[in-house]
Parts: sequence; structure tokens; C-alpha cells
Amino acid sequence: MTDHSALERDLEARIAAAPDLEALDQVRVAALGKAGVVSALLRSLGAMAPELRKAEGPAINGLRDRIAARLAERKADLEGAALEASLAAGGLDLTLPGPPRRQGSVHPTLQVMDEIVAIFAELGFGVAEGPDIEDDFHNFTALNFPPRHPAREMHDTFFLKPGPDGERKLLRTHTSPIQIRVMRGANAAAGAPQFAVHRDPPIRIVGPGRVYRCDSDATHTPMFHQMEGLVIDRDIHMGHLKWTLDAFCRRFFEAENVVTRFRPHHFPFTEPSAEMDVQCDRSTAQIRIGEGDDWLEILGGGMVHPNVLITCGLDPGEWQGFAFGLGVDRLAALKYGMPDLRDAFGADVRWLEHYGFSAFAAPNPASGLS
Ligand code: PHE
Repeated sequence: MTDHSALERDLEARIAAAPDLEALDQVRVAALGKAGVVSALLRSLGAMAPELRKAEGPAINGLRDRIAARLAERKADLEGAALEASLAAGGLDLTLPGPPRRQGSVHPTLQVMDEIVAIFAELGFGVAEGPDIEDDFHNFTALNFPPRHPAREMHDTFFLKPGPDGERKLLRTHTSPIQIRVMRGANAAAGAPQFAVHRDPPIRIVGPGRVYRCDSDATHTPMFHQMEGLVIDRDIHMGHLKWTLDAFCRRFFEAENVVTRFRPHHFPFTEPSAEMDVQCDRSTAQIRIGEGDDWLEILGGGMVHPNVLITCGLDPGEWQGFAFGLGVDRLAALKYGMPDLRDAFGADVRWLEHYGFSAFAAPNPASGLS
């Protein structure tokens, strides 16, 4: 059997002496590379007589394994040394903070939705939702909009392409269809299971949601958010509506000096109807509540029209109620002093970083809302 120990010692010495990774790799190529000495020995096995190969095989393979192991050891040593050297030379300060991690934040509109729900939950209201894509019946007809009533046009509705049956669905122009879905028992059977929110009276719900109108200026955006409110019970009157909304405003703005006013208005689905404004100061970039002599409309409301009750299978002789629709984005703008509503949906991260809320600051009346 050939003695390879001289070769092994020589290779070991060269590995140990390699001053850097590059030099070490040259030794590796010279030993284990295609034309390397150890590779040549391995190749020579193929040409040997079986007897000889039996003896030489393990010896040469062992040599190959030991050299490979030495190379790996030396490589790890050299790499460690190189890292130490670069740390020492580069002046890297390991105590510096890492790159900042972008943290998401809650959009003011969603935060305000949660605040409003929390306040009404305290007053005993539940939550009901409806679909963004509505049908004409729930958005208009059941709400006592006569066919071809100009209010249908006034809502500047986004219509979808008619379906095969000719039905033209639409993006709901308000959250009032939620009222219908809550009151109408038939809805549960009408094949919209996820929105089968029907309740028997007495009813006390708020219905948050996105609504859509073809409208855009500093206080109007094509998509915005409303919170519907609906109370159905016996002996309900306008006084209950006014008290509820005033109580809500004081709680929401966390101020006793909030001044509100009801202006007579018309909605086909309420009678009498009103719009409610909040007194504020809009003379500076920041809107302020409780001062100034500007008014900002924040909601429409009124007593549920008897025709609506009848359509929903409720006897107006027995049940009355009030309904309102709050402009959520308006309320957010007022409370947090945001001058232009369009910015709220401009998808500018800087805006959100300025006005956004921590995901962990879930509003609840016990710990404070804002
Ligand atoms: N749906 C009305 C609107 O969007 C608001 C409203 C809701 C009015 C409920 C009366 C009752 O303008």
C-alpha cells in the first residue's frame, strides 16, 4: 500500500499556513479540485486491480475526508478572524438602534366608527350591517322614494351594469337600507344570509358602513362613511331623537359646551325630518368645537315614515321610531381637526402617520375615547 502520509502532512502544513480565504481556496483546488493531487489519487482507484483497490480505497478516501475537514476548519477560523478584523476596523457601533420598523396605524375614520359604536352600545344599541352593493328596493323603494322621484337623481348614484334579469344594482348611497334589512322579517328568507340582520321590535341598532355618491369637494368624497341609527318602540317621539343625539355629541366630543341645532329638512323615509349641525369655528385650518359661529352638518334624521314601517310589516298604529344617519368622516374631521375630507382617502402615508391611531388604543367609554 502506498504511503500518503508525506502528502497529507504537506497539505496540512499548507492549509495551516494559508494566510487568508483566497490562499486557502488555492490549497483546496490543488488538493481536491478537478486537477488536484487527491482527486488524481481517487481517479487512480478505477484503474487498480481489485485486490489493490481494496487496500488503497479506504486509505485514499480517508485522506480525502481528513483534508476536506481540515479545509473546513481553517475556513471557519479565517472567516471568524475576517469578521473580527472588519468589526475592529469599521467602527461598527452595535449599540445603535436598528432600522425603524414601520408600524401600521388605525385610520381616523375607523377609529371614529369604533368610538361611535362604543357610545351607542352604552345606550343599549346593537350593531347591524348591510351590503355595499344594494338593490333599488332597499336603497330607494322601501325607503319611500317614489319611482322617478328626483331624490334618486340627487343622490348621484353609481349604478352597476344591469344583470341578466335587467336588475340594476347600485352602490348604496346611504346606510338607510340597513334599516329596511333590520325591520323586514322577509329579509332573512330573501337569500342574503350574511346580512340577515332582522330583529323584531323593540329595535335599537346602529349600522356602520361605506356609502357612495358621485360627489367631490373639500367636504364631500365619492366614498364616505355613515352610521345609521334606528330605534323602534312604542311611544317614541322627536324628543327621544334630540336627546339621544345631544347625549351622543357631548360624549363624542368629550365636551359639555357642544351646541347643536336641528334644521327642518326633507327625507322621503322620515316625517318630520331634520338635519343636525354642530357649532364650530372653521376660520382657521383647524376646526374647533364649542367656539366660533360656523355650523357643520353632521347628520340627517327624523321619525320613521309610516310607509316605511308598513313596507317592513310593522303597524304604525303600534310602533313608531326614529332614525338618523351620521356622517362619520365629518365627525372625525370635527373631532380631530382635519380641514379637508379628501385627504382622509388620499392614501398618503404621511397623513396617516399624523392623524392615525395606535392599533392598541381601542376606544371604549370606560378608559376614554380619544
Ligand atoms: N340617509 C340619509 C342621508 O344619507 C340620512 C338619514 C338617515 C335621514 C336616517 C333620516 C333618517 O342623507
